[in-house]
Amino acid sequence: MIVVAIDGPAGSGKSSVARAVAAQLGYGFLDTGASYRALTWWALDQDIDLADEDAVAGLLGTFTYSSSLDPDLESFAVGDVDVTAKIRDPRISLAVSAVAQNLRVREWMKNSARDLATHSGFPGVVAEGRDMTTVVFPDASTRILLTAREEVRIERRAGDVAGRDLAETTASVRERDAKDSNVVDFFTAAPGVTVVDSSDINFSDTVSAIVDIVRAGSDQ
Ligand code: DC
Repeated sequence: MIVVAIDGPAGSGKSSVARAVAAQLGYGFLDTGASYRALTWWALDQDIDLADEDAVAGLLGTFTYSSSLDPDLESFAVGDVDVTAKIRDPRISLAVSAVAQNLRVREWMKNSARDLATHSGFPGVVAEGRDMTTVVFPDASTRILLTAREEVRIERRAGDVAGRDLAETTASVRERDAKDSNVVDFFTAAPGVTVVDSSDINFSDTVSAIVDIVRAGSDQ
């Protein structure tokens, strides 16, 4: 199985970059943050207290998550509910870290990501998240940490979410990174992981840089 594993903090542009890399290579695309968001949506929909780790972990037995791996088709569902738009709601972005810190949830998500990649039907998969290079696919063919300076990430996030001011975005990006990095370190590259810093390069150059790294790796 060919896996390109990409990790990075909020606002590094990971998701759109990884999707474009997958499209260029003809690979599937796995947005693992979406699965944490989908579980968060489902828990909130059932009025589960996200701080109650047992209650959240208890949902996993009946959590039927499905995801399109086609980089040209963004689509996520829980059971037969299409949650593609729902999981991007700021309400979910605010709450998701609590779910992502639940270790039983992380174990389930790890197995789910591996399973989705194994059965993708594509010749390879680009998997994007926080622990792809270290925990989920430590033996991936290519492992990349996509970073950007904090002020650049904040500006990009502010641009993504219309109507949000810079101070609000700064607070939310910092808070989420701080909470998320309690359970997994996505600021420092593990041994063997290539760092791509997108602070001073545009979107398409970032995509090309990663595609080049993947191709260079497969020539060896
Ligand atoms: O990348 P994102 O913003 O969609 O991620 C949503 C949340 O899930 C975020 O709080 C970090 C967490 N996450 C994680 O802990 N591990 C992953 N592999 C992917 C996301």
